[in-house]
Order: sequence, then C-alpha cells, then structure tokens
Amino acid sequence: MDWLYDEFQQTGKDYASQEEVDIYDPSHDDFRDIGQELDEAVNWIQPTLQSRILDIGCGTGNFSIHFSERCQRLYALDISPPMLALAQKKAAEKKRDNIEFIHAGYLTFDLPERSIHGVISSLSLHHLPDFWKAVALKRLFAVLAPGGKLYFHDVVIPDDHSEKAIQEFIDLQGERGGDFLREDTQIHFKEEYSTCDWVMQGLLRTAGFRIRQEKTRDRVLKTYYCEKPHE
Ligand SMILES: C[S@@+](CC[C@H](N)C(=O)[O-])C[C@H]1O[C@@H](n2cnc3c(N)ncnc32)[C@H](O)[C@@H]1O
Repeated sequence: MDWLYDEFQQTGKDYASQEEVDIYDPSHDDFRDIGQELDEAVNWIQPTLQSRILDIGCGTGNFSIHFSERCQRLYALDISPPMLALAQKKAAEKKRDNIEFIHAGYLTFDLPERSIHGVISSLSLHHLPDFWKAVALKRLFAVLAPGGKLYFHDVVIPDDHSEKAIQEFIDLQGERGGDFLREDTQIHFKEEYSTCDWVMQGLLRTAGFRIRQEKTRDRVLKTYYCEKPHE
C-alpha cells in the first residue's frame, strides 16, 4: 500500500535516539508507579502459563518482562531499535527466554488472527494520528482470541475543560520532574497525537471492543480495560 502511514518515522519525542532511551526509565519513575500499573494490567488480563501476550510499543520492556513470568509466550514489539535493544538487555539480565522481540508496530505487525490472549498497549498508540489509530485497533482486535483482553493506557484528553486539564498536567509534571519532564510533556501535546476521550471511546468501540472499566489519573492519564466479546 503506497499510502500506508510510515509508523517507523518518529513523531514528537525521538525514541530512536539512544540518549532518550537511556533516560526513559529514570524520568518515568518521577511520575509513574510502574509497580501499580503492572499489577493493574495483570489483574485485568489474567495471563496463565498457556497464554500468548502481545506488548505493543513495549519501549524499555517493563510490561513484557513482568508478563513473561506469567505467560507462555510474550511478543514484544516496538518501532525503535534502541528501545528493543534495551528491553532485550533487561530481559536477558532477568533470564527471560520466552520473549520474542520484533521490530514492528501497530500497522506492520504480522501475527495470526485470534492467536493472542491479551494485549498491552501503554503510552504508545498516541504516536499515530486518529485514522491510523482506528486501523491499529482493528488489527489488535483481529489478533485477539474471543474473550481476550486489552489493557489500554495512554494520555487521553477529557471532553470538558480540555485545555485546563492539559495545563494542569504539564504543571504537575514540572513539579515532579523539573524542566525535563515539563518540556517532555509540552512536546507530547504539541507534536504527538493524543486525542479526546469521546474519540478514543468511539475508536475502541468501533473496532469491536467492549470497554468494561475506565480509570483516570492526573487529569489525562487514562486506562480503558477492554474485552473482545465471545461470539
Ligand atoms: C512512551 S513509550 C511507552 C513505552 C512503554 N510501553 C511504557 O509504557 O513505558 C512509546 C513507545 O512507543 C513506540 N512507538 C511509537 N510509535 C509506534 C508504533 N506505531 N507502533 C509501535 N510502537 C510505537 C516508541 O518507539 C516508544 O518505544
């Protein structure tokens, strides 16, 4: 398809840069409780030692490594080679040997339909413009087995007082992580494609997902706990 969006081209933060990759985990520790996120994702997806799990936009591999201890096979996908290299190094240190690292993204992954029991998408779908988010979510829906779960976490903008919510989040990030995190967050809204809650919900539902629960933190950090219905 000549007109396929080039998802390998970085938008906003350049996660193909080694410098950005090296600073990623320490800077995210300033505003995330990653242990809590991992617990929430596991509680929703409920992996078993027979499950195949997909972590799409895996970044430094925190979800991939944690889930790999609880499932049969973990597919860790990212479009950034240095992100994949760091995730692979961390996995080797933990002696994880059931993770398949794949250089691909939402629009280019090639996995059999209905072969996956759970999908983790954390802070990565916003790199695609909205139409391509719709394409991506339909592709995720297709690879999930009926009854499969999607843990979807991202920056999503509330429908009311949107600009105020964004400014409050930027200020909060500045308090937590100084100029680095403030600028990081500004770049997010200026150059990346976080969208509105009503759009995100429409995209998820139109792809076929049922949204079973929602949770919002820090005004704009939103988790949708989704399921592919049984036929
Ligand atoms: C903010 S990081 C999130 C990493 C990790 N999931 C987390 O929760 O910390 C965003 C990641 O998404 C990746 N990414 C960007 N566009 C992507 C795409 N189209 N498909 C898959 N991954 C993508 C980036 O390379 C980066 O590693």
